[in-house]
Amino acid sequence: MVVSTIARAKTSVSSLRYQQFKILSAHGQCHHGAVDGVENDKLNMGKIRIVAVIGTRPEAIKLVPVILAARERSHLFEVKVVQTGQHRELVDQLMLEFGIKADANLNVMQPNQDLSYVLAESVRGLSQLFARENPDWVLVQGDTTTTLAGALAGFYNCGRVGHVEAGLRTGDRRSPFPEEINRALTTRLADIHFAPTELARRNLLREGISSEEILVTGNTVVDALLHTLSRIQVEAPSKSRYILVTAHRRENHGPALLEICEALIKLLTRFRDVRAILPMHPNPNVRDVLVSRLGAHDRITLTEPLGYTEFVKVLNASVLVLTDSGGVQEECAVLGKPMLVMREHTERPEALDPDVAILVGTDPAKIVEVGSRFLNDANKTSKKQALSGKFGDGSASIQILDALLRRRDLSIKPVSFQGASQLRLGSPT
Ligand code: UD1
Ligand code: UDP
Repeated sequence: MVVSTIARAKTSVSSLRYQQFKILSAHGQCHHGAVDGVENDKLNMGKIRIVAVIGTRPEAIKLVPVILAARERSHLFEVKVVQTGQHRELVDQLMLEFGIKADANLNVMQPNQDLSYVLAESVRGLSQLFARENPDWVLVQGDTTTTLAGALAGFYNCGRVGHVEAGLRTGDRRSPFPEEINRALTTRLADIHFAPTELARRNLLREGISSEEILVTGNTVVDALLHTLSRIQVEAPSKSRYILVTAHRRENHGPALLEICEALIKLLTRFRDVRAILPMHPNPNVRDVLVSRLGAHDRITLTEPLGYTEFVKVLNASVLVLTDSGGVQEECAVLGKPMLVMREHTERPEALDPDVAILVGTDPAKIVEVGSRFLNDANKTSKKQALSGKFGDGSASIQILDALLRRRDLSIKPVSFQGASQLRLGSPT
């Protein structure tokens, strides 16, 4: 009897969803009305339906912990994974490693693609998919073209949008380019903002986001990193010291990348006992330069992109990191790893530390000066090698899912513009 009541309630929820979808499809816009004839407690019986959107490597690494946590709670959540395919090999490699198969892939990637093409194709494909799936929540992560496309398509199709890693800002619209603007626009489109740090929360408040729509969770990269560290064998310290280098940012293409190459060669000339390992981003604007400038150096190893577990091992055993990556900055901060950030600005100032982590830009003289200081002062910098909690404690994914659970009835209702103002993270329903 109880079972059949639940079954009926579920049926009415799913037919209701279908009705809502029909209404939306018919009018091409959101239906504003309340849900007629179905009480909230019956609505609550359905699982929360999430579509997680992944386009690039960092999104895969940072959304996988949320996806896996939701799948462990499959009685509460139904999570589907869609890849825009903005990245191909980089993401395929990680999905395989994490044992996740995408439910859909838009396969948008083209060699040397431009931003507007990726955005247009992704918005179109995701819109069709969201209209079909009608999820309760669209989850996007970070600041990529896929992030913006997912948030916009989610908004157009009236799903609620949750933004993971919200609120990071450099304050310079062109740096990082175009990620600063992607992230800020995603803020305008999102219904819940999962801020990794207190600073990110304050940035959002300053832009007028209500405190009740923000939750400080820590960064999900810490969940991924701690999980991975717990599974790897810590290598015996290597006899030869090595630097780990990553570089790929659009604003560093061209002259800045040449400066980075020059700096690395000069640093290695000063330190004959030091080697460098550089997993290359597949972007031809990056790879071709690295191969031509560094390929012949006998102490520089250029590799294909590493799987995440392998990368964490290499990162953990390095004596110094040179990077322009966002995620690598966070990982270095967690590990207390000496780091030079080869950018003019960072949206992650929490990762900086005057003793071990310094923003150096791409000026070779500055990179060589600070890099030499760190390599000479290995004792001092290695003292910092304790896990730092600046980016959270590894529970961000669970906190994100908890927040969605607390919004359970709201998530199942069709989005109404009035309803959106009822979204309150601080008040469990
Ligand atoms: C994008 C993100 C950036 C993120 C970076 C992570 C935007 C605007 N930027 O950089 O924030 O730090 O990804 O890596 O979304 N390619 C492959 N195989 C792959 C991936 C890329 O061949 O698996 C090559 C392709 O030629 C592709 C090019 O790299 O066209 C650039 O990829 P793209 O996603 O456009 O990179 P970015 O926008 O530079
Ligand atoms: N990473 C990886 N293999 C590599 C290089 C990087 O798994 O060969 C991981 C790294 O640990 C970090 C993430 O990729 O978590 C960063 O991605 P990327 O630098 O492409 O993007 P960003 O963080 O700059 O947006």
